[in-house]
Amino acid sequence: MLNETLKVIENRRSIRKYATTPLTAEEKQAILHATLRAPTAGNMMLYSIIEVEDPALKARLAVTCDDQPFIATAPWVLLFVADYQRYFDFYNFSNVESACKEKGITPRQPGDGDLLLASCDALIAAQTAVIAAESLGIGSCYIGDILENAELHREMFNLPRYTLPITLLVFGRPFVVKEENRLTSRFDPQYVVFKDKYRRLSSEDFVKMVEPTAAHAYPQLSLEEAAKTLARNNYFRKFVADFSIEMNRSSREWIDAWNNSSAK
Ligand SMILES: Cc1cc2nc3c(=O)[nH]c(=O)nc-3n(C[C@H](O)[C@H](O)[C@H](O)COP(=O)(O)O)c2cc1C
Repeated sequence: MLNETLKVIENRRSIRKYATTPLTAEEKQAILHATLRAPTAGNMMLYSIIEVEDPALKARLAVTCDDQPFIATAPWVLLFVADYQRYFDFYNFSNVESACKEKGITPRQPGDGDLLLASCDALIAAQTAVIAAESLGIGSCYIGDILENAELHREMFNLPRYTLPITLLVFGRPFVVKEENRLTSRFDPQYVVFKDKYRRLSSEDFVKMVEPTAAHAYPQLSLEEAAKTLARNNYFRKFVADFSIEMNRSSREWIDAWNNSSAK
């Protein structure tokens, strides 16, 4: 069953090469309008979106986000910020501290749960933007490396304590090269979608889970060795790579700043 919406979702792929035609004001407005219609916890909109227009900022992001030059050339760049600052400031504007005193309730600062909830809000908004753009024939790509370089990004975007730049999205009309326009593969649902309880995968599961890719990539190896080779390669490319170490350091910095009462 494939209706128009499902077709848009099915055929989306990350786009990293763009035609030079800019997005029109109407297209941007339509995407932003749809984005702000995304579900949001308590209808509080615990996120902010920063349109990165300054070419110097885009060029800097292309470096600070693990050297990805296509960020600088993307026609439209949106930074999605998990944001409790706005609502917490709103609370304080209404003088909640003294209201708490009157009611005998202990006031509190935004905590880890609030950070996770705001991150959910920001990411749900981001994916809504991706689908809205795709439906207009505009491609996009997430940039997870925005989680790196906390100190630089905080300064570049003037981000206060109860914010965290959870993801960056770049948009543009696809510069289509036919043979590159293939969809990426996914694991079979049996390894991802469970009923009632979580299921840890066995060695046999892993071999089957990656069989189509492994058999194609390493036809000279047994399926088990090919699967292990894929796992190991991914580990070195993604998990212990410098960018990943930096992402974890930087994320700790964001979380600590959120929880550290001496931060601004
Ligand atoms: C959280 C997240 C972070 C990502 N970060 C990057 C990135 O920094 N650079 C990049 O080129 N693609 C990035 N991607 C895109 C993925 O590489 C891409 O979604 C994946 O390879 C599947 O391909 P597809 O989107 O074309 O289906 C990211 C995607 C997600 C969801």
